[in-house]
Amino acid sequence: MVTKDEFRNSLAKFATGVTVVTTLDHQGALHGMTANSFTSVCLAPPLVLVCVDFRTHTHRFVESSGSFGVNILSEQQKDIGAYFARPPEDRHGEVPYQHRLSEKGLPVIEGSLAFFGCRVVDSHVHGDHTIYIGEVDEISLGGSGKPLLFYESQFTNLGLNEKP
Ligand SMILES: Cc1cc2nc3c(=O)[nH]c(=O)nc-3n(C[C@H](O)[C@H](O)[C@H](O)COP(=O)(O)O)c2cc1C
Repeated sequence: MVTKDEFRNSLAKFATGVTVVTTLDHQGALHGMTANSFTSVCLAPPLVLVCVDFRTHTHRFVESSGSFGVNILSEQQKDIGAYFARPPEDRHGEVPYQHRLSEKGLPVIEGSLAFFGCRVVDSHVHGDHTIYIGEVDEISLGGSGKPLLFYESQFTNLGLNEKP
């Protein structure tokens, strides 16, 4: 039997990039959630997936809108990753981001390395998460630099500056 701690600690050995999944709230304002479950699914059609906890606000907004944006964070955007990982009631202080709306009206976080605007084409419920499969309708490439990473429960970066 696999314990919860064993499972969590083993998953922490898998280094991922960091994204912010963006939606619009019921007032039409940007809502963001830090997510590292983002994965590409298929090239043709262009499909991606993200796994979203039932208890998040993002789950509610994706359910009601049928769409979501994925912003790939750069190493300069660690504060944004930390900000959107907190529950909305704990997101105090200066907002560490600026945004614009994509052509299809999804929030794009300025400075992100890449943005994918997605339309939900399928979803699967497993445990306390929904896997949303999104067809990518729009892409924009933005900031330069290296990606932000998440490894062993911490933000980190590639750190590969040494020449061979
Ligand atoms: C690095 C990192 C990755 C995360 N990935 C996910 C994820 O893939 N899916 C998810 O539901 N929550 C994920 N979370 C937790 C959410 O960011 C967190 O619950 C957030 O407060 C939800 O915001 P919301 O309720 O405003 O939507 C992650 C947190 C961190 C720090």
